[in-house]
Amino acid sequence: MKDKILDISNLCKNFGDFTAVNDISLHVNKGDIYGFLGPNGAGKSTTLRMVLGLIKPSNGVILINGENISGSKRKYLNSIGALIEKPDFYKNLSAFDNLKILYKMSRLKNINKIKDVLNEVDLWDKRNQKVGGFSQGMKQRLGIAQTLIHDPSLIILDEPSNGLDPQGQADMRSLILKINKEMGITVIISSHILSEIEKISNRMVVINNGQKIVEGNVEELMQNELLKVSFKSSDLKLIGSFLTNKKIQYENKNDCIIAQINQENIPQILKQMVESNISISEAKQMRTLEELFLGLIK
Ligand SMILES: Nc1ncnc2c1ncn2[C@@H]1O[C@H](COP(=O)(O)OP(=O)(O)O)[C@@H](O)[C@H]1O
Ligand SMILES: [Mg+2]
Repeated sequence: MKDKILDISNLCKNFGDFTAVNDISLHVNKGDIYGFLGPNGAGKSTTLRMVLGLIKPSNGVILINGENISGSKRKYLNSIGALIEKPDFYKNLSAFDNLKILYKMSRLKNINKIKDVLNEVDLWDKRNQKVGGFSQGMKQRLGIAQTLIHDPSLIILDEPSNGLDPQGQADMRSLILKINKEMGITVIISSHILSEIEKISNRMVVINNGQKIVEGNVEELMQNELLKVSFKSSDLKLIGSFLTNKKIQYENKNDCIIAQINQENIPQILKQMVESNISISEAKQMRTLEELFLGLIK
């Protein structure tokens, strides 16, 4: 079994009568680049803020490396680096001096770390320039350098590509891949753009209106030829053994079975079920992620 670096169960957040996060459960494995995908206002930042202890959940449990963060002494934050919305810098100071302030505030011991992280994000040559003159892409990269300075095992990047041009976005992607693959750091990245998450994440969750739509392996979720069909019946076991016989993959949900069936085979499978006297109260084709997601943001 893979180690879960983050494990969220039944997380909720209400602001007054408004529910911004509604019963979200998900987990991030060590080594993942985990995508947090959802349109604006979906509840991405609110969820990430709860993980970082910036706001309190109304309900639910957040485990980091197996430890419940509620009641923990915030020590767990030592292992996390975060870039939530736009990074804040002293514009009149150089990139190096901005990191030095953070270095001192964090009481770090190894001054070479500043050089290391500036090299990682490709800003060492620009270290003496004032941040006020930096491009958006350079500021974002300096923001990532900030997240790396205390050697985290997990970094959380909330919409790091916002406001970047296509080249800046591509640079951001290769930087994130490098941090993940070469430095072994688990990454959570949020975005409202499916293609951006698809390009770098291995696992992802899609959320909308504070609710989880789907979570899983990105490649599997993006496979369009396999369609999911949900079945309801008074005898789900019978449907399960029918599908097993046909070597069709399925999973049991509360009151239904969800099977992966090639689209062209659907009519035949349904016919065979009826012929085998399996009573089906409902058979529903679930839409693919792309359709679901495009439908959502329309
Ligand atoms: N402090 C707050 N008070 C009231 N409503 C909030 C607050 N923070 C966020 N919201 C609302 O919660 C919803 C989710 O917001 P957010 O998590 O920022 O979405 P996302 O990051 O996915 O764009 C939005 O409707 C937003 O207006
Ligand atoms: Mg947000």
